[in-house]
Amino acid sequence: MIGYFFSSTQMTASLEEAVKPLCDNKSRLFLFSNKSRDPLYPASPDDIGSAFQPLKRCLFEKVIIHASCDFFSSTMTLDWLANIVNSARQGAEVYLPRLDAGSARERNRISSSALTALLGEPVSQKGPWSIYRRPQDDLPVNHSVLGAFLQARGEFVLNALLGGALNNTRPERLLDMFAPILAPDAPPPKVIKRLPRPESVDIVNRVRAGELGDGRLAQQPAYTDPAPWNFTESATKFARHLNSWQGYLIPGTYYKAATIARIIEDHFGSDNPVSFLEHGGYAGTVSLQLLMEDRINVSYARCCELELFTLLNAMELHQRLPESIHGKFHMQITSAEEAGYFRSYDVILFSHVLLYMRRDLLDRILAAAWAHIRPGGIMIVFENTSPPTGAGGSDEAIIFSPRELDSYLDRLGELSYAESRTGATASRGDRETKALFRVLRKLPAK
Ligand SMILES: C[S@@+](CC[C@H](N)C(=O)[O-])C[C@H]1O[C@@H](n2cnc3c(N)ncnc32)[C@H](O)[C@@H]1O
Repeated sequence: MIGYFFSSTQMTASLEEAVKPLCDNKSRLFLFSNKSRDPLYPASPDDIGSAFQPLKRCLFEKVIIHASCDFFSSTMTLDWLANIVNSARQGAEVYLPRLDAGSARERNRISSSALTALLGEPVSQKGPWSIYRRPQDDLPVNHSVLGAFLQARGEFVLNALLGGALNNTRPERLLDMFAPILAPDAPPPKVIKRLPRPESVDIVNRVRAGELGDGRLAQQPAYTDPAPWNFTESATKFARHLNSWQGYLIPGTYYKAATIARIIEDHFGSDNPVSFLEHGGYAGTVSLQLLMEDRINVSYARCCELELFTLLNAMELHQRLPESIHGKFHMQITSAEEAGYFRSYDVILFSHVLLYMRRDLLDRILAAAWAHIRPGGIMIVFENTSPPTGAGGSDEAIIFSPRELDSYLDRLGELSYAESRTGATASRGDRETKALFRVLRKLPAK
């Protein structure tokens, strides 16, 4: 059986051409994509796995990694490759694309020397890079949040399904869960939750119409969504959770953490200690991964997140990562609207989260974050903008136009832009068409 790894964003005719000769009717080809489950010749949807799933050891006779895959200068890439190489049989050949050396755009790419340090010398210096697998020494998969996720997968799903409910000890949340049983006639308790969708859309539209914002606030309380809760146990639901972790959060963290690490390196260098906070960081995967990146020195990372159950998943990952980062990671359950900061930071990140916040409070949320950035520090914002620069679940009604998003940020300082997968400098003109990180720098103290 042949394992073929590719990135779904690049699923092109040329890829199909490359795959065809490998398959006759008898041989089996297993495809792995980092997202899509669309069938590709000659596979069925069942034969497409996630490139981030744990793989059986010594499974494939041949492993081919397509050039469309991202090879970041990140410890997550090391774990991703090690997981793949360990799935090849003794003596099997593992093919990787040749990496281009050194341009500014490619600075976010793993170097050939790091690759050789991990995998050994390639079979030949010309043609595609390949190595023969030596199964007596499995490669370690413990450099990154991906390695921790691969170990913690089962617990993860259980925590995602049950953690939001049974393990949640906030009294009002318990009340919320059990009220229908204990006090079916009482009005539902108020619970801190994400803003209900229709209210969110309504507030966004009123801010856009100039009715709210600039100090004029919506009258409704911020969080009053009485969450209906029910538990339906089913294998399909478990499988869906697993797929969604592998299909969204892990690939998302894979490229976001790599690019954010590059932005941090560009601003602070490799050795200076950097303190970091993320709002809406879910299970802390980006914060934890930044602590693991060799190219920067993140010495303190705090993940602020609204949903309490994410704490269990963050703990699960943290516990499986090396002790060198223990004590440096903090999780705070809070909405960004109400966050207490307790200290200031070199870097504050909002990634795919501003769209969910109270739009009429956005000025205040951003101003509070800005006030807690140290002189010389940076605020990083990464949002899907309309027309959607990122595929899938684009929340069209509430995503920002590039101009709208920049109008909030321009009030704070001078904006610069970086491309989402390379970290290379981009221009304001790119904002209509490309997914961009926005970076605001606070002037250093005199
Ligand atoms: C689309 S996910 C993004 C996760 C991560 N930042 C990323 O880029 O992959 C949005 C996250 O923001 C959280 N969130 C939504 N509204 C929030 C708010 N008002 N304050 C803090 N977190 C919020 C959600 O619970 C969820 O974890």
